[in-house]
Amino acid sequence: MSTFETNLRIPGPTMLPPTVREAGGRQMINHRGPEYAALQGRIVAAMRPFFGTAGDVVLLTCAGSGGLEAAVVNVLSPGDRVLAATTGAFGDRFAKVAEVYGASVRRLETEWGRAIEPAVLRAALAEEPGVRAILLTHNETSTGVTNPVAELSAVAREVAPEALLLVDGVSSIGAIPFEADAWGVDIAVTGSQKAWMAAPGMAFISASDRAWAAMETARMPRFYLDLRRHRESAATGQTPWTPAVAVMYQVDEGLRLMEAETPAGVFARHRACGAATRAGLRALGFDLLADPACASDTVTAAWVPEGLDWKAFSGEYKARGLVLAGGQGKLKGRIFRVGHLGFIVLDHVLGLLAVLEEASLAVGRPVEPGAAVAAAQLAAREAGRAVVPQEVQR
Ligand SMILES: Cc1ncc(COP(=O)(O)O)c(C=O)c1O
Repeated sequence: MSTFETNLRIPGPTMLPPTVREAGGRQMINHRGPEYAALQGRIVAAMRPFFGTAGDVVLLTCAGSGGLEAAVVNVLSPGDRVLAATTGAFGDRFAKVAEVYGASVRRLETEWGRAIEPAVLRAALAEEPGVRAILLTHNETSTGVTNPVAELSAVAREVAPEALLLVDGVSSIGAIPFEADAWGVDIAVTGSQKAWMAAPGMAFISASDRAWAAMETARMPRFYLDLRRHRESAATGQTPWTPAVAVMYQVDEGLRLMEAETPAGVFARHRACGAATRAGLRALGFDLLADPACASDTVTAAWVPEGLDWKAFSGEYKARGLVLAGGQGKLKGRIFRVGHLGFIVLDHVLGLLAVLEEASLAVGRPVEPGAAVAAAQLAAREAGRAVVPQEVQR
């Protein structure tokens, strides 16, 4: 065990700002009463700008994967043709959910580490008439790649105007720009433990008018995740089932901090932290998995270098309290991932890079002391280092 406080830098759950932690400890309220209705109303209103929607945001008590399942079962019927554009482990999961419920899924696979190219999607849709839904992952957390949803959506609308666009925004919405209405996204999903600086336990979903209409005829089985029931309950400031009230307290406080910073400020902070992480890791001699043109500003994946004794190296950074994520699926044991979303400021990034530098020196890797931090600072400045309100920095 480390004698240091844990420095959790995985791509969610993230660390929590102190006021968010305190919020989670508040006394319970009646989830059928007016105080609760006000809490739910505040959360929905504050989330809208981050989803880029004027419509409703539905609150589900479940993990992000439950949100993906809700997206699928609410608008599709068994046998529907679905094109799942996958770029990693989470794209695979989304496709799997649709398969489990009996959709006829065609996977359009993109090499892990790269983004889906609009021209490739165009060709696939042209080859596959009658597609009922397209599944996309906005930010593929397993590879550190952000897909160009706006461009992909434009292609989808042109080539397959009837197809619904279902987007996994679990590790993007609230951290990087997302415009559900302007981009024509029919369902978008995110989770409380990611950009929202709160504990795990809730998924949030936006749905377009087309998606609400599709729910009336969709035949996949659904009960707990039936979004129509949630919409009905939301009209009276409630959820159909008992919600995770303590997580909502946290989300409410996280959103208060995010509103104070403004969405543009939140996005700029993530941009700066993403650029700093990538530059710092490169300065430490790590090759990055993602194509720089589509590198994510919420998570970075780096290759474990040939010849590095990973057990010794990770033992050194773990002993200093740092917690990073490993690889998933076929990248297990081959990469490590650094999360930089939610409660993250440049100082956190500089701190984790300094720990990785210490760990490198401890196992005899040739690094120049201070080089990673310097490279990260420079990259953050070039990315337009955001001035972060003190409340968020604490
Ligand atoms: C892109 C993406 N989709 C889906 C999920 C699944 O979320 P959960 O673990 O909350 O089910 C994650 C979690 O890391 C994710 O990053």
